[in-house]
Amino acid sequence: MPGITGPSDYSTEPTRHSSLQINSKEPFNAEPPCSALISTYLTPADLFYKRNHGPIPIVDDIEKYSVSISGLIENTKQVFMKDIRMLPKYNVTATLQCAGNRRTAMSKIKTVKGVGWGVSAIANAVWGGAKLSDVLELVGIAKLTSTAKFGGKHVEFVSIDQCKEENGGPYKASIPLSQATNPEADVLLAYEMNGEPLNRDHGYPLRVIVPGVIGARSVKWLEVINIIAEECQGFFVQKDYKMFPPSVNWENINWSSRRPQMDFPIQCVICSLEDMTTIRAGKVNISGYAASGGGRGIERVDVSVDGGKTWMEASRFQKSGIPYIADDCNKSDKWAWVLFEVTTEIQHNTEIIAKAGLRT
Ligand code: MTE
Repeated sequence: MPGITGPSDYSTEPTRHSSLQINSKEPFNAEPPCSALISTYLTPADLFYKRNHGPIPIVDDIEKYSVSISGLIENTKQVFMKDIRMLPKYNVTATLQCAGNRRTAMSKIKTVKGVGWGVSAIANAVWGGAKLSDVLELVGIAKLTSTAKFGGKHVEFVSIDQCKEENGGPYKASIPLSQATNPEADVLLAYEMNGEPLNRDHGYPLRVIVPGVIGARSVKWLEVINIIAEECQGFFVQKDYKMFPPSVNWENINWSSRRPQMDFPIQCVICSLEDMTTIRAGKVNISGYAASGGGRGIERVDVSVDGGKTWMEASRFQKSGIPYIADDCNKSDKWAWVLFEVTTEIQHNTEIIAKAGLRT
């Protein structure tokens, strides 16, 4: 592809922050210490978790870089960065979470396949870019379309990176056309993260951001957008990121019996204390994050310091000085996590638990 290449080895990887905990070196998968997560509402790019399935692509000529929109449409169209930048720019604050977040803890109960993650495969940023619904209008697909003229029902995003799971082919994923063409779903082709151009690790020059949905659908280093009739048949949609009951194992798994994961489930994590932390008796600050998929608000976060016998309500916040109100889009960022905090007394050995509740 002119302008961008996907290397076959790891000799040209970018430099990364030294405090990241590396869960896999090649491909590079790393997360920050969880205390760093709650120190800012917006996560700085260098501390944002990095989830890759191959070597990081290289842009050699940004002028030549383009995204090809093809598939079930009248004519294939090449869209260059200047075309994307000409569309209205939106800034969307959205939390990305890898479906594998907390996999290491899950594996303590039953072994889970894949890269192990602590609690920090999640982070929050402001993403700047064009709405996918505006981009699709350039190829004649109107807003709020579920089935396009030639039978397209899904939008597939194809990258340029070389992934082992795809036998050296690129990473790809899809979302329903109804979500892609709904301006309120805020799906972006993003070129900025926290007001800066995306960096290489996070998809420079252009990536998809699907708010409220597992990070696996937010394809980085976008090369092709395909309008297709069935959902993407790639490995990461069909043979990974699906949920099965405990009776299913690697011998009897039937991948096609389950739908691909989309909205991520509610999550609540204490970040101010590590598991098994020893603390002095007295006042203790318990803080962390809560996040829900699908843009649903966090109605409550409760904390217990007696193993779940009694609970107290934690305060929830996003931006300083503005009270968080679940489902109030003027005051709160619907696609973003909520930080929580409670200060209480602890006198003896105990179990501390936090749980979040959804706005229903
Ligand atoms: N896009 C490409 N091209 N290659 C990838 O390996 N990983 C996906 C998604 N998009 C991936 C990708 C997964 S599983 C996640 S969780 C997010 O990117 C992580 O994005 P980040 O590295 O910017 O945090």
